Amino acid sequence: MFERPQAGESAIVVHVVFKDFGRSPDLDEFLELVTSAGARTIETLTATRDRPDPQYFIGTGKADTLKALVRDSQADVVLVNNNLTPAQERNLERLVECRVIDRTRLILDIFAQRARSFEGKLQVELAQLKHLSTRLVRGWTHLERQKGGIGLRGPGETQLESDRRMLGLRIKQINARLSRVRTQRQQSARSRRRALLSTVSIVGYTNAGKSTLFNRLTGSEVFAANQLFATLDTTLRRFDVTGEHPALLSDTVGFIRDLPPELIVAFQATLEETADASLLLHVVDSNSPEANDNIAEVHRVLDRLGARDTPMVEVFNKIDLHPDIAPHVERDAEGQVTRVWMSAATGAGTHLLLESIAERLNVSKVQRRIILPLQAGRLRAKLFELGAVVDESVLETGEWAIEITLAETRWETLLEKMAPELKDFVIVDDDESTTSIRLRRHIAAI
Ligand code: GTP
Repeated sequence: MFERPQAGESAIVVHVVFKDFGRSPDLDEFLELVTSAGARTIETLTATRDRPDPQYFIGTGKADTLKALVRDSQADVVLVNNNLTPAQERNLERLVECRVIDRTRLILDIFAQRARSFEGKLQVELAQLKHLSTRLVRGWTHLERQKGGIGLRGPGETQLESDRRMLGLRIKQINARLSRVRTQRQQSARSRRRALLSTVSIVGYTNAGKSTLFNRLTGSEVFAANQLFATLDTTLRRFDVTGEHPALLSDTVGFIRDLPPELIVAFQATLEETADASLLLHVVDSNSPEANDNIAEVHRVLDRLGARDTPMVEVFNKIDLHPDIAPHVERDAEGQVTRVWMSAATGAGTHLLLESIAERLNVSKVQRRIILPLQAGRLRAKLFELGAVVDESVLETGEWAIEITLAETRWETLLEKMAPELKDFVIVDDDESTTSIRLRRHIAAI
């Protein structure tokens, strides 16, 4: 039903830069999208304009150039790195006598090729149908599109009416199926919560290495390819964070700049898992010159999904491509892990990431009782500030007994953080679970 660029189809890429029209889509990225869709770019036609031409989008002169290019190169398809109105698409097709596919339709097509789960496939088809229905205006006759024919057309209906009816019917069917699949998914999400499994979600710009990381952490063979959007649906797999704490890891669709809004809606349901996650692993291709822009785009999508406040660790991936960077962890002022530099492909730094996940999920927590003398008010305040205190009481001796709980690896960091305040004190481990902090001069007096 949908015309997708066939493998090896020759394509002319049209790229228009608008001077006063905000950011234009990136050409290199679009060329990658074209390859991902299985087409071959034989020519690139670029143009600079103040605003889109209402008739042809690219303006009459360029449209004639395009017509000549199509004729001379015998191209199979014209791919436009912008979104066209249905009228512009039709006018261009009529003029150049060749299929014209805009950015949204190309991305939809790639999505259609990549969707794996039943839900993903339904979502893509729905988005395609909705996109198509906006284009069903004055029929199909300007290009010879072979439609289903016998049995599909009701008596006395025009082609357009029957197309509309078929689309409406199919959209209804898909919506009904999607709502059944969603109910099932929500039920299994509930049972996961009952089993108290934490969910860790991998997010990131397309091609950052999410699938490779997913495979590294779970030991599974999820498809990883150097193609944009190799992964489309969320994949869920159980993995062990520390040996005794199983968690669920999910791999999500790669984000991309200028993602058509209807696609975000289409994948909302799948991405809802992301907003529900206990922890997000934001994979970044540390080798990409676009890394900062890509990070910003991922943040924008996460905001839209309502996942702004979900705890996050950034995974700066592909450090094997930088000989001078060794695997390491970055922490914020509170000692919390914020970034892990590693290579999902070689595995370098995987243990650091696993430890960081465990720490951020508060997996291997230790409980300690700290006995503080009255003079240690600032230390006590610091413990509260670091969010480590779960309980506090005052002993008969007038000292504070403070219960703290924190990830095992954070105890040392906590002591480091308190170092300036600790200089007048001595730390004594009374036993494994109790630490007394005593004044130096008090000790000296004993
Ligand atoms: P989408 O599905 O498009 O969102 O991509 P993704 O983020 O899942 O990326 P994927 O894991 O498919 O990896 C993309 C490309 O980067 C593949 O060619 C991987 O082999 C490569 N890659 C992933 N991790 C590393 C790494 O640590 N080092 C190097 N050199 N390449 C890597």
